[in-house]
Amino acid sequence: MARPKVYVTRRILSPGLEIIGEYCDYEVWPDVDYPPPRNILIEKIRDKDGLLCLLTDKIDAEVMDAAPNLKVISTYSVGYDHIDIDAATKRGIYVCYTPGVLTNATADFAWALMLAAARRVCEADKYVKEGKWEKPWNPFMLLGVDVYGKTLGIIGLGRIGRAVAERAKGFNMKVIYYDVYRLSPDEESKLGVEYRSLEDVLRNADFVSIHVPLTKDTYHLIGEKEFKMMKPTAILINTSRGPVVDEKALYRALKERWIRAAGIDVWEQEPTPKDNPLLTLDNLVAAPHIASASEEARSAMAEMAAKNLVAVLKGEMPPALANPSVLKIRPLDKVKVI
Ligand code: DGY
Repeated sequence: MARPKVYVTRRILSPGLEIIGEYCDYEVWPDVDYPPPRNILIEKIRDKDGLLCLLTDKIDAEVMDAAPNLKVISTYSVGYDHIDIDAATKRGIYVCYTPGVLTNATADFAWALMLAAARRVCEADKYVKEGKWEKPWNPFMLLGVDVYGKTLGIIGLGRIGRAVAERAKGFNMKVIYYDVYRLSPDEESKLGVEYRSLEDVLRNADFVSIHVPLTKDTYHLIGEKEFKMMKPTAILINTSRGPVVDEKALYRALKERWIRAAGIDVWEQEPTPKDNPLLTLDNLVAAPHIASASEEARSAMAEMAAKNLVAVLKGEMPPALANPSVLKIRPLDKVKVI
C-alpha cells in the first residue's frame, strides 16, 4: 500500500510529527505564527488522505469538497467548533479531537485567572514594575477579595469543569453548577457539587467559571441579562470559547461595576483587536487563549492528535472521535489505507 498523504497546518510539539511520519508522508505549513491562508489550505489538501488542523483553521464543506481523498480531520484541540461536523459526517470524513489531555492545564489556568482577578495580581505587577510603588505599605493598597471559603459557580460540568471543582476542595469552597446534563447524586456528592439552575448559579456564586463548548445554544450565553443577575462582587472567568460571553455586555458590566472583575482567556475575535475597550479596564485580567499552554499538555495534545489521525487511516477506532455517526456512513474498513 502507498503511504497516505497528510497535511499539517502548523508545526506542533513532539511527538506529533514523529508519530505521523512513521506511517504517512506529511507536509507541514512552515509558518509558526500564522495559519495557512484558505486558498493554500484548499490547494494543499487536494490530494491528502488526512488533515491535522488547529482551532485557527476553519474547516467547512468547501474545504472538504476540495479533498476527494480526505478520510480524517484531526484537530489539535478539544474544541471543534471550527469544523463543520455535519458536513464531515455526510462526506464520511472522521473528525477527531483531544479531550482529557489538556484538562488539568486548563483547569489550573482557570484557577490562575480566578486568583489573579481576586487578588489583583496583574495590577500589582504593573504597579511595581512601572515604578508606582513609591509610598510605604498601607492597609488599603491593592485590596482584593478572598477566594478561600467562597462560592464557586461552574457553568458546564464536563471534564474541565469537574477538574476546576476538584481544585475548589483545597480552597474550602461551596461549589454549585449548571449543566444541561445533571450528574448522579452519587457523583455530585463525591465531587462535592450542588446542581442549580443557570440563574441560581449566577445569582449566588462569588466566582463564575465557564466550561461549555461553543454551540448555537451557548453563543452569548452570558450577556447583559445574566451579568445583571450576578452579585456586584462576583468575578467571571472564561477559558471556554470567547463567543459564549457577549463582550459588549462584559465591558459594561465591568466598567459600571455590575460585577467586580473578570479573567478572560478567550475572545469573540482572536487575536482581540488592540482597540477592544475591554483592554482599558484594570478589573479585567486578560490572556491570549493560553489555558492549555503547558509543555506537558501541548505535547500530549500533539501525541493524541497524531494517534487519532493514524488510527483512522489504519482502519482502527481512534482514541477520540467527535462524530461517531460517521461509522455508519463510511465504516472503518473503508478508510483503511495503512
Ligand atoms: C482547545 O483545545 O480547544 C483549547 O481551546 C486550546 O487548547
